[in-house]
Amino acid sequence: MAEAKTSELMEKIVSLCKRRGFIFQSSEIYGGLNGFWDYGPLGAELKRNIKDCWWRTMTRLRDDVVGLEATIIMHPRVWEASGHTSTFSDLMVDCLLTKKRFRADQIEPQTGTAYFYTGAKDKTNGTACENAFAVLVAKGKHPDYARKVARQFYQLCGLAEPDLRGERTEDATQTTRYNPENGALLTEPRPFNLMLKTYVGPVESADNLSYLRPETAQAIFAQFKNVLETSRQKLPFGVAQMGKAFRNEINPRNFTFRSREFEQMELEFFIRPDEAVAAIFGSVAQPSGPGHPGEPQPNWGWQLWHQYWVEERIAFYESIGLPRASLVEYWQKPEELAHYARATVDILYKFPFSKRDEKGELLGEELEGIAARSDFDLSQHQRFSGKQMAVFDEELKAAWPKLQPANQTALRDAYFQARHRYLLKLGEPAEKAEKQARDDAEALTKGYYVPHVIEPSAGVDRLALALICNAYAEDQAPDDKGNLETRVVMKFHPRIAPIKVAVFPLLKNKPELVKKAKQVRDLLRPHMSVFYDEAGAIGRRYRRQDEAGTPFGVTIDFDTLGEKGPELKDTVTLRERDSMKQERVRIDELVPRLVDRTR
Ligand code: GAP
Repeated sequence: MAEAKTSELMEKIVSLCKRRGFIFQSSEIYGGLNGFWDYGPLGAELKRNIKDCWWRTMTRLRDDVVGLEATIIMHPRVWEASGHTSTFSDLMVDCLLTKKRFRADQIEPQTGTAYFYTGAKDKTNGTACENAFAVLVAKGKHPDYARKVARQFYQLCGLAEPDLRGERTEDATQTTRYNPENGALLTEPRPFNLMLKTYVGPVESADNLSYLRPETAQAIFAQFKNVLETSRQKLPFGVAQMGKAFRNEINPRNFTFRSREFEQMELEFFIRPDEAVAAIFGSVAQPSGPGHPGEPQPNWGWQLWHQYWVEERIAFYESIGLPRASLVEYWQKPEELAHYARATVDILYKFPFSKRDEKGELLGEELEGIAARSDFDLSQHQRFSGKQMAVFDEELKAAWPKLQPANQTALRDAYFQARHRYLLKLGEPAEKAEKQARDDAEALTKGYYVPHVIEPSAGVDRLALALICNAYAEDQAPDDKGNLETRVVMKFHPRIAPIKVAVFPLLKNKPELVKKAKQVRDLLRPHMSVFYDEAGAIGRRYRRQDEAGTPFGVTIDFDTLGEKGPELKDTVTLRERDSMKQERVRIDELVPRLVDRTR
């Protein structure tokens, strides 16, 4: 029941997105391209507002974060260093009958009777096919179904009239080996690299092979030294980047949620390793409990910085209108963590299409991941490029000689162990790893180390979809004759609403009203996005803006012109979208009032 309701809700949302110009299928006139989406006039404004809010919060309002805008195509070695060339893959399976491809981990477990065949022989000419095949038949379904599907399979193998061979059955419980749509056997799972390939230059050869970036993060690591040197930042500090990323997803799905082209907003926040913090400040501050740990302190280690960014990011989502109750803070279990990650928290949004727990509660789907990635990324680029990624820390150099010898030994050992573990995991020969880790530990004592990183990584498109789902509401509102009707209203937070204010002359055939309304439009336009509308009954115009999610409407009527007396001259009606309340406001008060409520 709940699922039927949520799929109905999703259908309404998808249809509104098309009808009102939020999101269109890419290349729709040619039948569309799976996993690619275009943003229409309202969607483009919404996305721009999301990115502006993120950029402002993450860079402009902070002293310790600077921006970067790097290219989409980078040197292919970047992706070798990051591990994407060898490991950025999902396991895929193909249906042996329809050839449809699935992500192996997205196949729902099924139960039934599996019918196995060793092959088939053509009744017309005796040709044999010895390919094994199987079909899962759900309980209650006739066994002939398996035979029908098996015959189709052998027909595809070239037999005109297949006579099935070696049929045997077996009960199968919670199996993921069969196509849930037709019961046909799937291929064995095999890895499929998600990077989209291209060639740089006029020759299509292996030497010119390149990739469209699957994440924006790696450019930040590759440019770390340049940014550090030119921005005069000191650790801890961050580099933020927004931009397109591409993944050849096996099954794009859930509208824009899993796309093949999308945008990311990523911050790489570089911090001192805990051993350096301990050497400088005597110890590393520990989290005192859940929640926001407050203003950053110099003695924070990776745990407090990680907690800080999780809380900052949740506060960001709340500040643009996603209620806390719609979000889930999911701490990845140790076995789910990437090998270099010390902790990862996913911020999930309860999309209508999210899976539900046994109580029927939505579990949520990932909007953003906040990972404590140790010094893995910079170390990898150091190894692959041969360029130093270590920084020199004056405070560490000064603090080290003042430490007790026992402390020096303990910190040097801890650092050695961490570097040694990393190098061994990356496949360095034991002797080389030991020597390199010793050198790194020695360098620490002189003030050098490779920075660690905390990475909050969010998706623009997923956030746009979450905001659209969250905004969608239906309520009752009076029409022009005062009769109640169902109103569809997009309750966007004014900060991210595509249009902030709509301006309406009460009547379009009264030149004085139109002239005044255009003056009001021009007064507001330099400060916010304004939509001017004079077509149709005023109630209908309100309704159109409600569907677009415009939080304020300004109506210019005869009172504005002073026709009912001088006290109302140069006042307008200001209508609030959600409450539909209207109040009389002086025109010269509009800019400060609306700017205050939409920034
Ligand atoms: N640098 C880390 C990184 O890229 P990720 O979890 O793979 O981590 C980060 O991606 C965010 O990018 C996700 O939380 C999600 O919001 C967005 N994202 C990832 N794949 C996506 C896809 N196929 N379609 C839309 N958004 C996607």
